[in-house]
Amino acid sequence: MTIKTNLSRRTFLTASTVAAGTGLAAFPSLAFAQSSAANANAPLYGPPPGVAKLNANENPYGPSPKAIAAMTEAISQGAYYVSSTAETLKAIIAERHGLTKDHIILSSGSSGVLTSLAMMAAQRGSILGSDLFWDTTSRMGTRNSTHGIKRLPKTDDLSVDLDAMYFAVDGSIALAQICNPNNPTGSIVSPQKLKTFCDKVSQQTMVLVDEAYNEVTDDPEANSMIPLIKAGKNVVVARTFSKIYGLAGMRVGYMIAAPETAESISAYGMGSYGLNQAGIAAAVASYNDTTFLAYSKSKIVEAREMIAEAVTANGLSALPSQTSFMFVNLGDINAEDFRKGMAKENVLIRGIYQDYLHWSRVSVGKIPDVERYIAAIPRVLDSIS
Ligand SMILES: Cc1ncc(COP(=O)(O)O)c(C=O)c1O
Repeated sequence: MTIKTNLSRRTFLTASTVAAGTGLAAFPSLAFAQSSAANANAPLYGPPPGVAKLNANENPYGPSPKAIAAMTEAISQGAYYVSSTAETLKAIIAERHGLTKDHIILSSGSSGVLTSLAMMAAQRGSILGSDLFWDTTSRMGTRNSTHGIKRLPKTDDLSVDLDAMYFAVDGSIALAQICNPNNPTGSIVSPQKLKTFCDKVSQQTMVLVDEAYNEVTDDPEANSMIPLIKAGKNVVVARTFSKIYGLAGMRVGYMIAAPETAESISAYGMGSYGLNQAGIAAAVASYNDTTFLAYSKSKIVEAREMIAEAVTANGLSALPSQTSFMFVNLGDINAEDFRKGMAKENVLIRGIYQDYLHWSRVSVGKIPDVERYIAAIPRVLDSIS
């Protein structure tokens, strides 16, 4: 029997129609195929043509050509479970930081291991965070626990108040979580202040620094808290291949921790059963792809500057960003109205976060997509004000 490996979209959709007829449409993946069938022009992966997808901080310049080549080879061996490549990935990450493979936990995106850590923390107490931070995994990890997230009060400039956080740590806090630079604000904490904070707080409880956007910052090495792990502090750091590496859909991330801490966190995860061959291959191939990383970063910075200039020209402002997105102050415009207005222009951005009604997050995408966002700003403002 000959199996067609290049299954066409049409064949796939026909197959899904058959599945619907046999009752298999109850399965979510097949239901998704059905909804794709409703829009014949929708691609199976990525945004439809003509849509500027600026809502998930992806890097549309990725994956790097080296990652694509590695994935192509890896999928031909997709019959086999992930094995030595995962060890290779741990080894190259460890080598860069002067650590051992035992310091590295790989997972399906950094979300995998961040959720494991939150589950572990929830056995003992609450997770302390600033009012606004990327809390998705902390919410997932604590959802079946009596412990939850404790948030600090708002700050006027939306910054992370490290002093307030230090004073809020007590026996009920199992984990102090900082996202640096922060999502959705894009702001960064000074490395010196953060080091002092980590030194002090880690004597009382574990500190997590989520460095998903570290590689995009002006000085990634200086901004990282990974050296504190080597110095024996009770600090763990999360990183991901979803952002600058342009591999969000391939689901690879990792956490760096002292070996005994890594072992404890891993007890809440899926180990290598949570990994996929192609993703790991892509991560290995692009980890040191400096050409691709430098190009991506230059485009991110270029887009960030364009957005900053455009929002100012439209009478708005944005927080300074060290990430691949910007947090825009819309004045008295409602962020959900703004999001809907942008969606009508085929520009996808984020709506309201918590009760920050007038703040809007836009990811930097490819330059033409950023240009579409910029061109749409005055029209959308006009339509809703
Ligand atoms: C700060 C931060 N941490 C972690 C993640 C999780 O990403 P992933 O699971 O793709 O690594 C995200 C995703 O947007 C993020 O913004």
